Amino acid sequence: MSPRDFPVEELAQRTEDEVREHLSKAKLVEGLQHMSPEYLKGIRRILTVSADTELVSAPSYLRAARHAPALNNFGSAMSIVQDELAHAHIAYRLLHDCGVDMEWLMYERPAAEFKYPYAFDVPLNSWVELVCANALYDQAGYVLLSDVHASSTFGPWKRALKKVDKEETFHLRHGRTWLKKLCADPGGKAEVQAAVDWMFILTLEWFGLPDAQKRHTIQLEYGFKGKTNDELRQDWMGYVVPFMEEIGIDVPAHRDEESESWVIDCPFPARFDPEKREWDLAAGAVSWDDVLERWRARGEMNREYVATLQQGYRAMHAAAVA
Ligand SMILES: [Fe+2]
Ligand SMILES: [Fe+2]
Repeated sequence: MSPRDFPVEELAQRTEDEVREHLSKAKLVEGLQHMSPEYLKGIRRILTVSADTELVSAPSYLRAARHAPALNNFGSAMSIVQDELAHAHIAYRLLHDCGVDMEWLMYERPAAEFKYPYAFDVPLNSWVELVCANALYDQAGYVLLSDVHASSTFGPWKRALKKVDKEETFHLRHGRTWLKKLCADPGGKAEVQAAVDWMFILTLEWFGLPDAQKRHTIQLEYGFKGKTNDELRQDWMGYVVPFMEEIGIDVPAHRDEESESWVIDCPFPARFDPEKREWDLAAGAVSWDDVLERWRARGEMNREYVATLQQGYRAMHAAAVA
């Protein structure tokens, strides 16, 4: 939080009871005039996670795009990067409307305070890893944002996500088309398998704590999203596992027909070695507290990506002061 943020108590114009009554009539929240302090706090939290995730995906994909096999492939990757920046802008602009100091949030905030999934702290080092990220990470983004689009009670975001959803479909298609092409060749398939081996479990983590340990119940009560973490993780597996089976890539999950659900076949959550980009599955499952500790410490690329995003603003300020 920036010291320049407007306090929620001063901005929110409704009480908690008034918000609940408003929502019970299936009305959308259009702005501060419809928000209570808790609603405002909650919508700021979920918008920040979404904005930060979109923003940091841009330098992550940009770094990997340097390995594009041809100039037109680089162009496709750049159009994805451009989309992600636009998606981030939508969410930061809405945060500004919610009384958050957008300049601090984007350009002055310390890297460690950014709130995006840990997966983006692990570098993408090749074109194969970039297209795997399109198939796995963008699929996670798509699942999460489609849920917000369908269920959010915050009107301005709900409407804006129509465009975002369409663009995410393009990112996904980009990933899937490339994976199919790569897997037609044994060498390409081995590279995809090596990337999926570490990225699949990182994306499972993306959906957060299991419902039994979940903390932000207000997210469901106030309709910031519609589905629980476990339901969203199931949805993601429902898209990804059959696709991986189709292209012959092994993933540690399968469909259990009896319970009509997707089952994770490896210890989960598990210990991750970020240097080797490997899971220590032999050691068995770890606790979510262990995972939270790793997330909080952030990873290798956190500072570098945030520095990349903030360098223009810092240079402009330095020039203005000089
Ligand atoms: Fe996006
Ligand atoms: Fe995307």
